[in-house]
Amino acid sequence: MTIPAAARPVSDDGTVVIVAHRGPHDFVWEAGQWVAKASTNGLVSMIEPLARQPNVAWFCCVSEPPGSESERDALYTTANDQTDSDLNVVPVPLPAGIYHEYYGVISNEILWRLHHHLVNQFGYAQLDQKTHRAWDSYLEANRRLAEAIRATEIPVRAFLIQDYHLYPLAEMLRRHFPETPILHFIHIPFPEPAILKLLPKAWRETLLRGLLGCNVIGLQTAADVRSFLACCQEILGATVDLHRSTVILSSGRTVRVRAFPASIDPKALKTLQQSAETAEARQQLASSMGELSIIRVDRLDPSKNQIIGFNAFERLLDLHPQLIGHVRFLAFLIPSRTDLTVYLAYRDAVYREIERINSRFSQTCGFNPIEVFYTSDRTQALAAMESCDVFLVNSGKDGMNLFVKEWALVSHKPGVLVVSETVGVALETRALSLQVCALDVEGIAKAFAEALFMPADARSAWLSPLRANIEKWTAHDWLVAQLRELEITLPEPAPFPAHLKPATQKGVVEWELRVLNKEGIHARPAAAFVRCARSFLCEIEIIKGGTSFSAKSILSVLTANLNRDTHFILRASGVDATAAAEQIRQLLESFEHEEG
Ligand code: F6P
Repeated sequence: MTIPAAARPVSDDGTVVIVAHRGPHDFVWEAGQWVAKASTNGLVSMIEPLARQPNVAWFCCVSEPPGSESERDALYTTANDQTDSDLNVVPVPLPAGIYHEYYGVISNEILWRLHHHLVNQFGYAQLDQKTHRAWDSYLEANRRLAEAIRATEIPVRAFLIQDYHLYPLAEMLRRHFPETPILHFIHIPFPEPAILKLLPKAWRETLLRGLLGCNVIGLQTAADVRSFLACCQEILGATVDLHRSTVILSSGRTVRVRAFPASIDPKALKTLQQSAETAEARQQLASSMGELSIIRVDRLDPSKNQIIGFNAFERLLDLHPQLIGHVRFLAFLIPSRTDLTVYLAYRDAVYREIERINSRFSQTCGFNPIEVFYTSDRTQALAAMESCDVFLVNSGKDGMNLFVKEWALVSHKPGVLVVSETVGVALETRALSLQVCALDVEGIAKAFAEALFMPADARSAWLSPLRANIEKWTAHDWLVAQLRELEITLPEPAPFPAHLKPATQKGVVEWELRVLNKEGIHARPAAAFVRCARSFLCEIEIIKGGTSFSAKSILSVLTANLNRDTHFILRASGVDATAAAEQIRQLLESFEHEEG
């Protein structure tokens, strides 16, 4: 396998390899079509600054290109969507079926929901034959990722693995990289043993053993650390040192388990806040904010508990009718995992509830008291955070919730945070917010009232220390603390060196090629052609007569009917596109020489 130029080390220390299920871009529905766009995901925002460094490569999973344009509705990005000229991204394509089972079924339908204590309605309800098959794909995706990394032959200085999609990866990498430091950071809450036991024995043991392939396991909070250690003790029967927060393996190796609370980049946030886009959003939103406003910003996901939040708002209006017509609830709901039926069902349930509440109050109010913005518009949400009275997060469980940290930095009305105790950030905001039980409609309604009636100086007295705390522990500190734990120092922030930026980084290479041999690309040459194409990470297409054929499928290459003297365009997209085009050009020449 060719080493992607961007991932080649510029010093002898080797490359820091980040491995995440996500690349830097999302595939979103915008203006009537799917487009790849810089992601607003919290995980992405935290690893991106490191991925800009010269000695860092970011491996991520992508789907192989779908067979037709209409299949793009499957939401998954391909290698082409993840190319970025500023980042050293190495996309690893997985067949679309494996991708769906590894990500959609096991990661999202099962692990995500279990980690967020979502069992039964809108949650993890049962495992059937389909899920058992999907489990094999979850393992296969991790295996392919480990193999793709090994095959690059990059000298690796350390691995930084992200999240629940890749639990088995550390153990797999350990086989090829016995001495390399590995840290796996889990962005979501870690379940207690009783919850993890809702997974079959073999699965839960594989997940825990996979993680123990690391030197360090990073979690959001001290509570998550306790849960992880308890799982190792109770499920694996491993020796755990609670005092040192370590797991001692039978081989004698020790795994350190640490809390690294996730955070944000205040400077980047400030820049965004001062941008023309935010100014425009501010203007557009002004009329929706009204006298008093409660807002929420989260993915439309059952774990976020949106319905309870709306019920609490309804109860607030019943408890304090003098507020009717003076207070609004603005919900900025980010579309998420719309490929999963349960997410669509939850979305419908949310909309039904909003409609019911609006129809009760709209006449007296003269407007709909609840307004939904179903979009992933960061600047719009930021503008609302600035001038809201109440910021609500009532997730049943949440790893950290970075929106709270963003709100605290930009709120200037000032506002008050109403947050459920089961959200990671609740620990950091204790005594500086109104803390509620996620499911307690009555309690949340009363917290709304308390917040709305709270005078501005009391609100500021909470907000100022909250802000100061966030500025003291930023996304940069989160990262440095992990590297320090691995005894690695972060290279000084530097622009990605121009001499290392291959022409292909932006993505696409198109070469006009001609078939030179008498036999054409049929039978044996076709098989060699496909083998060669498959040895590259980039997507490779043959464009002939305006039609595109995948160069990685034998059937497709044969269908392209590449006879002697046929001219075609070889289009390669991805980090190693130029190398792939060059290799295929040479291969076409070698066919001619072999035939003599
Ligand atoms: O912010 C990080 C996170 O909570 C991840 O755990 C998860 O990857 C993501 O947000 C949301 O899910 P998805 O990646 O499926 O959109």
